[in-house]
Amino acid sequence: MSRLVLVSNRVPPPRERSGAAGGLAVALREAVSSHETLWFGWSGTAGAQAATQPRIHRSGRITYATLDLAQGDYEGYYRGFSNGMLWPLLHYQVALAEFRREDLGAYQRVNHAFAAALVPLLRPNDLIWVHDYHLIPMGAALREAGVQARIGFFLHVPFPPAAVWAALPQGDEMARELACYDVLGTQTEEDARHMNEVLQAQGLPPKARSFPIGIDPESFAAAARQAEGGTEVRRLIQSLGGRALILGVDRLDYSKGLPQRFRGFARLLRRFPEHRNRVTFLQVAPVSRGDVAQYRSLRRELDELTGRINGEHAEFDWTPLRYLTQAVRRDVLAGFYRMASVGLVTPLRDGMNLVAKEYVAAQNPEAPGMLVLSRFAGAAEAMEGALVINPHDPDETAEALHAALSAPPEERRTRWRQMWTAVNRHTSADWARGFMAELEGTTARAA
Ligand code: ADP
Ligand code: G6P
Repeated sequence: MSRLVLVSNRVPPPRERSGAAGGLAVALREAVSSHETLWFGWSGTAGAQAATQPRIHRSGRITYATLDLAQGDYEGYYRGFSNGMLWPLLHYQVALAEFRREDLGAYQRVNHAFAAALVPLLRPNDLIWVHDYHLIPMGAALREAGVQARIGFFLHVPFPPAAVWAALPQGDEMARELACYDVLGTQTEEDARHMNEVLQAQGLPPKARSFPIGIDPESFAAAARQAEGGTEVRRLIQSLGGRALILGVDRLDYSKGLPQRFRGFARLLRRFPEHRNRVTFLQVAPVSRGDVAQYRSLRRELDELTGRINGEHAEFDWTPLRYLTQAVRRDVLAGFYRMASVGLVTPLRDGMNLVAKEYVAAQNPEAPGMLVLSRFAGAAEAMEGALVINPHDPDETAEALHAALSAPPEERRTRWRQMWTAVNRHTSADWARGFMAELEGTTARAA
């Protein structure tokens, strides 16, 4: 069996249990634990100088090789081009995208430096699997360095229509870099169609295909059952005083539609006053990319909105909206999901959204909660049973919340069974197996 070489900007520390690693790290860790794997990427540290020698760390069958970034490269490559330009553009938020030529220069430099540091670690028969928007030029850089092995690329975030992609200076060049991969994977069929349009406009073969990512539903369900009796869950239940819980869990990111969600909840309290003092909305939103300007202004907006909503609706013995910017341990999170009557997942645009799937997996099948899900999450492409909404309309959110809170037990169970089937249709293991089988099937270039 070929060794698997994963390349991703974010490499989770081995056996990390806490923190909001994001969907990429969570899905990959689950998917590859059974393979001999080399996992290469950024160490998470920026210092005075870029490292050229990766730091090696072994844990079970996974060898981690990570590089520090120079402070200037961190700013240009990670903060600037990846998260200030590509992230908003890929999430259809052109007005938030900020392009600087220096950032693009850093992006290309880091991709080439990563390729140069990876090459000496490679074996001829490796399967190389590159992940996400930080590393689009990586495949082309490896080929330039003479690597003959098979190289695939998976984009964890959405891919927008060609007219949006056109706003990216150097977009044509990046399309050619995408075409260097042997296999190109996206989350949804819509993303694959968009990517293929961009490739074809350059006269390149339309080889993008969707490989929808998932979770390990059985193990997540077990974690949720286990957490039920834990201290944190008991404290949460006690603090609710018999009120129903609406739960949101997201990195603090403008793609997640948090201001719209908060307004939707406020609308629920105004339009359906029977829920006043009967329901609590807990939003867990750990700070993410806190040194990127667009994220800082979102945080200010949410601080203000939380104050305003609670000021207007709270009673002396009830705080309607609880808003946390810290991460919650994964096992505790599973227990929180399980006791929430409603999972509220309303991104304006999201590659897949694993939180939606985790919420479903964590439910008690006898008394499950309801999922209110944005139609713009990749997860909505195949999630029969969810209440699917347009997150831009706070009234629609309020109506769905009202419907979810009022649903009789039989409806909850029927909908949950449909969602459980959907979540089991595409697990993290299926995703990894499907992509790697496709990559294995392409032939390595003759040395
Ligand atoms: P994204 O990849 O954009 O962050 P996903 O929903 O696909 O969004 O994946 C997020 C992952 O990070 C999920 O596995 C989720 O459990 C985890 N996560 C998100 N928010 C938190 C949090 N507040 N505390 C702990 N884990 C979190
Ligand atoms: C999303 C992206 C990942 C990224 C994660 C966390 O899931 O698709 O590539 O790792 O967010 O963001 P961060 O910037 O902290 O790595």
